[in-house]
Parts: sequence; C-alpha cells; structure tokens
Amino acid sequence: MKQFINFPEDFWWGGATSGPQSEGNHGKAHENLMDYWYRTKPEDFFDGVGPEITSDFFHHYSEDFKLMKKIGLNSFRTSIQWSRLIKDLETGEPDLEAVDFYDRVIQEAEDNEITLVFNLHHFDLPVELLQKYGGWESKHVVDLFVKFAKTAFECFGTKVQYFTTFNEPMVIPEAGYLYGLHYPKYSGKGAEAMQVIYNLNLASAKVVELYHSMKLGGKIGVIMNLTPAYPRSNDTKDQEASYFVDDLFNRSFLDPAVKGEFPKTLVDVLTKDGVLWDYTEDELKIIKNNTVDFLGVNYYHPKRVKANESNTDYSSNWMPDKYFEDYEMPGRRMNPYRGWEIYPKAIYDIAMNIKENYGNIPWFISENGMGVEGEEKYKDPDGNIQDDYRIEFYEEHLAWLSKAIQEGCNCFGYHVWTVFDCWSWNNAYKNRYGFIAIDLPTQKRTIKKSGHWYKTVSENHGFEYELEEMKE
Ligand code: BG6
Repeated sequence: MKQFINFPEDFWWGGATSGPQSEGNHGKAHENLMDYWYRTKPEDFFDGVGPEITSDFFHHYSEDFKLMKKIGLNSFRTSIQWSRLIKDLETGEPDLEAVDFYDRVIQEAEDNEITLVFNLHHFDLPVELLQKYGGWESKHVVDLFVKFAKTAFECFGTKVQYFTTFNEPMVIPEAGYLYGLHYPKYSGKGAEAMQVIYNLNLASAKVVELYHSMKLGGKIGVIMNLTPAYPRSNDTKDQEASYFVDDLFNRSFLDPAVKGEFPKTLVDVLTKDGVLWDYTEDELKIIKNNTVDFLGVNYYHPKRVKANESNTDYSSNWMPDKYFEDYEMPGRRMNPYRGWEIYPKAIYDIAMNIKENYGNIPWFISENGMGVEGEEKYKDPDGNIQDDYRIEFYEEHLAWLSKAIQEGCNCFGYHVWTVFDCWSWNNAYKNRYGFIAIDLPTQKRTIKKSGHWYKTVSENHGFEYELEEMKE
C-alpha cells in the first residue's frame, strides 16, 4: 500500500555543487591542486577533460538559478574558491572581479528566492601553498585559510546567512595522503595524514571563532561525509575494526566539530602507535570553544569492514589499515558506474546517531546522489533523459530520512548531488549526477525527468511511496 512520505513545510529542497567543479577557471587568480594536477598529468582525467571550463557556471549562473527555481529548489550550496577570491594569499587581499562575480551569484539567488549556502573549501587548496609550505600539514596554511575566510565574511557575510568551513575534510587526508587518489596523490603517508586531520579541525574551529566574533547574524557549519562503518560480523575483532574505522573516518572530524574534542579512543591508539598529531593546549582550547551551529551530512554509500587478516607489516610505515580491512559484503546492491554500494537505510542510522550521540544538533543532508555513465541512452524521442533509476534512488533515501524525522531527528533539509551535471575531479564527466543535463560542446541545459519530479516533491512537501520498497 502506498503512503505519503512527508516533510516539514519549511524543509530545504536543494542541491549542491562546488566552485572548482562547476565554475570553470575564467579569470581565476591562482591554480588549485586540481588545476595543477590536470596541467601536469592530463592523462589521469577521464577522456582528458580538465577543470578549465567544467559547467561554465561563471557565465551561466543566471540561467542556472532560473532553472533551479523551475525545478523547485529553495536552497543551493556552492563554494567560494580560495584560488579565485584571494589575490594575495599571504594577506588575504581580495580580487575585485571575483568579489563582483560572487556578488552577482548572491543577487541572482535572492532574485529567485533560493537560500544560499557558501562553503569555503572543497578540496581546492591553492597549489602554491602546497609547494611552499606543505599544504594542510602546515599551521601557517591554517592561518592563511583564516585570512581567506575573513575576507569572504567581510565581502559576503551580511548577504549570505549560511556558511560552511569545509566539505568532507576527511577526504583530504584520505585521498591525498593515505591512498593516492587526489593530488598530491601521496600513498602510505599515515603520520602526515593524522597531522592533516588535526590541522583541518583547527582551521575549521578558528574560522568558526572568527565568524561568531564578527556577529554577522547568520550560521556557520561544516560538511562531513559520514560513512557508517558496518562490521562483517558480531565477532569481537570485526567489531573492533568497525569502532576504529568509525573513530578515524567519522568521529575524528565529527567530535571536534560538535563536541569540541577528539575521540579519546582514537587519541589513545595514535599515542600508543607514536603518530599523534602535533598540538598545543591553546589550540585544543580553540577547538573546544568553537563548535559549529549546524552540520551538513554527505551520504553516498556505507563502509563495510572486517578485522585485518593480512600479513602486511606496518611497523616501519604506520597506516590506519593496520586495524581493519574493507569487506565486500556478498549480495550488496551496487551502483556499477561509480562502484559504490547503495544502502539507503544508512541515512536513518546516521540520523539516529546524530540524535542520540550529538545532542540532536540541527543538520541537513548536504549531498546524496547517484552518478550514472552513458545517460544519453535513456533519452526519449524529444531528447529528455528519463532517469527513473535516479528518482527511485532518491525516493528510497528520502523515505528513510522521513522516518528519522518522524522519530525526532533534527534534519532541516535535503540537498542532492547535484543540480546540473558537473565535473567529478579525475572522473571528469564520466558519471552524470544532475537533475539538469549539460551537453558539454554547447553547454546547453536540459531538465531530466528527475528534475521535474523534484519540483512536485518540493511543492507537495513529500511524495507517495510504496513502503515495501524500503529495503533493510
Ligand atoms: C562528494 C564530493 O564526495 O562526492 C563531491 O563532495 C563529489 O565533490 C561527489 O563530486 C561525487 O563523487 P564523484 O567522485 O563521483 O564526483
């Protein structure tokens, strides 16, 4: 039997993108890590497509906001690019053309009654700061980030009510220092990754402190990729592996952001292994006293883990993998294009965790989505993509989210990844995520079936759904 899956009247129905994935590089003052990576190794990028143009939001923002309005969005997140806004990275002096661009974006959002969330960092460190100072391993870079944030707040702080410090900060050490996936593409730098975790937390807390001190009247948060770590079995060793993975990949950012302190169990392990970060008591006080006003949660897939059963020797080169291994659960449901498991119930588990263990802090889903390769084949005779699989994906996740809200979770919105197709780092435009298709050679925008569906959901504050579809 069908039931109406409902959401609060003032719920955010939105979507997210980021500056480096959508704007294009027109007029940018500096190169970021991805720009540099592409310039020096274009063969790492799917079909050789780099970040120079992407979805050309720089020139299409006005049309894009009108399309967002047309498909029912009432909120939208993008990021201010450090490498665009700041002319002088040491002083934080702004580039006036960039200020003008972001001002026009803010105005267009307002004209279309779309609440804007401005994020400050989406994996896009100016490459000079890596080359000169060692990037996020350096506390000087932490202070330069605070200068960038100050400039952003001075320029836009009274016009935008929601800021976030970082998008998925854990991806920076994970992809850049542990597993060689994103530039600087280091592998096996376990100890350095731990320092990066600490410095990013410090940077976030310092920016929260600054924002609150400026009394701008809005709110500041952080966006996390909270990926529940489900153990293979009830066996103690598998359970211990999942605690460790949760400590490292979720709580190492979530706890400082919300509770002002690092998980003691993680600090104990890192101390025992001799890889605890370099810290001062004064810095810990900053982290303690400057927690966020709200959280954004990006959720795509769960993490499944088991005890480490390999014979790898980590004694001379510490890696967190010493304590766990990834587990491929038989029968898991997959998105074959991105290689990610689809497990909607995790949204409910995340919501309950925030309610029960994090003071039910206000939060929203800041990214959730499904990237699909070759969507062209789903075009109808009029050229419109019939992406029913995406609608099903969203409905199932939203049904679990609604259940969590009925049970008292303090979730105030849902943002998809993404509104219009955008550049996915080294996957470039391989997998498309948008409600709105972009034809790259012409930059022509066309609304997919899912975009029209979203409008009805947003207007009706929910949708009819067959509850039996909710798979545990
Ligand atoms: C999130 C990021 O991790 O996932 C986005 O915040 C990213 O920047 C999205 O694009 C989807 O992942 P991918 O790698 O397929 O682009």
